[in-house]
Amino acid sequence: STTPVTVIKGDGIGPDIVDSALRILEALDPGLDYEEVQVGQAALDAGASDVMPEAAIASIERTGLVLKGPVTTPSGKGYRSVNVAMRKKFDLYANVRPTLSMPGTQSRYEGLDIITVRENKGGMYSGEGQTVSEDGTRAEALSVITREQCERIIRFAFEMARSRGRRKVTLAHKANIMKSTSGLFLDVGREIAQEYDDLEHDEIIVDACAMKLVMYPEQFDVIVTTNLFGDIISDLCAGLIGGLGLAPGANIGENCAMFEAVHGSAPDIAGKGIANPTSVVLASALLLEHIGRREDAERIRRAVRAAVADHDRVTPDLGGDGTTSSFTDAVIERL
Ligand code: NAI
Ligand code: MG
Repeated sequence: STTPVTVIKGDGIGPDIVDSALRILEALDPGLDYEEVQVGQAALDAGASDVMPEAAIASIERTGLVLKGPVTTPSGKGYRSVNVAMRKKFDLYANVRPTLSMPGTQSRYEGLDIITVRENKGGMYSGEGQTVSEDGTRAEALSVITREQCERIIRFAFEMARSRGRRKVTLAHKANIMKSTSGLFLDVGREIAQEYDDLEHDEIIVDACAMKLVMYPEQFDVIVTTNLFGDIISDLCAGLIGGLGLAPGANIGENCAMFEAVHGSAPDIAGKGIANPTSVVLASALLLEHIGRREDAERIRRAVRAAVADHDRVTPDLGGDGTTSSFTDAVIERL
């Protein structure tokens, strides 16, 4: 039997790197059945009247499984983020971003294995109350987080840590300044930690967390944090292992899961054919793992790691002169 998956190629480097992932999946033939849909600018260009067309929503509701390239959100008013809207619409409350060192990159560290678990719906990203005064001199945004959201994400992090045999969960917060929102998150975190005495737990103020991640990254295992902090910390973590081109992420909800890169559409290199597809390829491995195809997921990971370790046709972000498509060939040869 085949598993239906909704595919969103996205903008900028998105179509190139998603095609790479699809070629690799094709070579593995894990029995996926793709439904391609468009969102964002790509949807508008194709004649849709909304950035989240009905056809895309219907497909995602049907499959509950999405492989997604990055979608551009122009800065400034008048644009809502399709990414934020989709996370809300499909209740994708947990954003899981693994950072695993790869031999053969020029990163400063070796042997890192950190997972950032980011609350994906609330906080500064709730999108509520964003106003600018008529004369443009005053701007407001509302940061809203509920006890339920805190409980759900923190419990998710501890459960994930336990089921994957991890050692420690670190709560990253800013409760000293953001006393209400981050304070609630920290309070709930301390309560829930009591229920997991098989796991170590500690807490850290997020700015110090950034410093310590750079100086002593090996001290970290699972980090759970609120939306905005998780966004920043997970890019930082990607930087520790060799860059955004290597960083996959999963957006998880009860009935839907969406797998994508941590990074965006990379307009600075779009159209050049040199984006590193590893992020989305590893996201497709997370997807396979999510549907119980552990062995297929592992085959993809092994092949990618071997190609990077051999420096075979790697892309410029890893110091090579390969292209998205030649690196994809290198991975397929190692499957
Ligand atoms: P970005 O993550 O697209 O790029 C940051 C830097 O990393 C750039 O120098 C880029 O060239 C490099 N980079 C990213 N992915 C790479 C890859 N696969 N291979 C090699 N180099 C790579 O961040 P930026 O430029 O701030 O955002 C661009 C757009 O993407 C914005 O419209 C933003 O809203 C959107 N975005 C979308 C996301 C999503 O769909 N989940 C996530 C983050 C940003
Ligand atoms: Mg981000």
